[in-house]
Amino acid sequence: MARVALVTGGTRGIGASISRALQKAGRTVVASYVGNDAKAQSFSQETGIKVTRFDVSDFEACRTAVDGINADLGPVEVLVNNAGITRDGVLQKMDRDMWDAVIDTNLGSCYNLCKLTFEHMRSIKFGRIVNIGSINGQAGQYGQVNYAAAKSGIHGFTKALAQEGARFGITVNAIAPGYVDTEMVRAVPPDVLQKIIARIPAGRLGSPEDIARGVLFLTADESDFVTGSTLSINGGQHMY
Ligand code: CAA
Repeated sequence: MARVALVTGGTRGIGASISRALQKAGRTVVASYVGNDAKAQSFSQETGIKVTRFDVSDFEACRTAVDGINADLGPVEVLVNNAGITRDGVLQKMDRDMWDAVIDTNLGSCYNLCKLTFEHMRSIKFGRIVNIGSINGQAGQYGQVNYAAAKSGIHGFTKALAQEGARFGITVNAIAPGYVDTEMVRAVPPDVLQKIIARIPAGRLGSPEDIARGVLFLTADESDFVTGSTLSINGGQHMY
């Protein structure tokens, strides 16, 4: 039977590419989203991928969603923690709400969904978890203390959980995308973005497919000896 894969934030941007790639690889994919119903419905109609609406920062909402997927399709065996937001601003202008939203959504979600799916993975001695970090969690970024802290936290979380999962056949890896052509990056002020692109040795933004290819590699059944790693996919912008 096809393994069930849950991709958070899986109906748009990088997540949509990941959902499509996993579907093509034979997984039964469920893509989560939180706000944009119209986009999620059109994505589902176009691809045949099931979508489910819940807030990844809310543990009880995650529990209800995971229970629902379990009843509907079976337990999650491939988890891609991709959902993420930005609330950029220099520290002086960053309210506590901007800090909490980014930490809870980007990092808290990894705890929530790993916690709720890990037990089943342990019981079958198989699991594939990929957490989407960021170049800005590796290198820092002006105006992003919240985002850099959350993404950096994801990289530590990944290495710790990889150690716990290894003897149960569960691999836990991270991808650190560079600047990828998505709505999130297009929201960066154009003059700032031009300066960033000028510093990418490959001379271009990444594409969502560049990241999805990494997820495919890390979630393949055969990739059972790769765990605790961080795959940087950034056009050479930061070598870590
Ligand atoms: N290094 C040093 N100084 C910088 C700087 C930098 N990288 N960026 C801006 N500054 C300076 C400016 O030159 C300016 O200095 P002066 O006042 O002396 O002229 C000062 O900081 C204030 O800059 P702004 O006018 O831009 O300040 P702002 O408050 O309007 O905006 C900001 C600040 C919100 C951080 C804005 O610069 C910004 O959006 N930057 C981009 C942040 C970014 O890269 N976000 C990534 C989003 S995509 C993503 O996160 C995905 C991923 O994983 C890669």
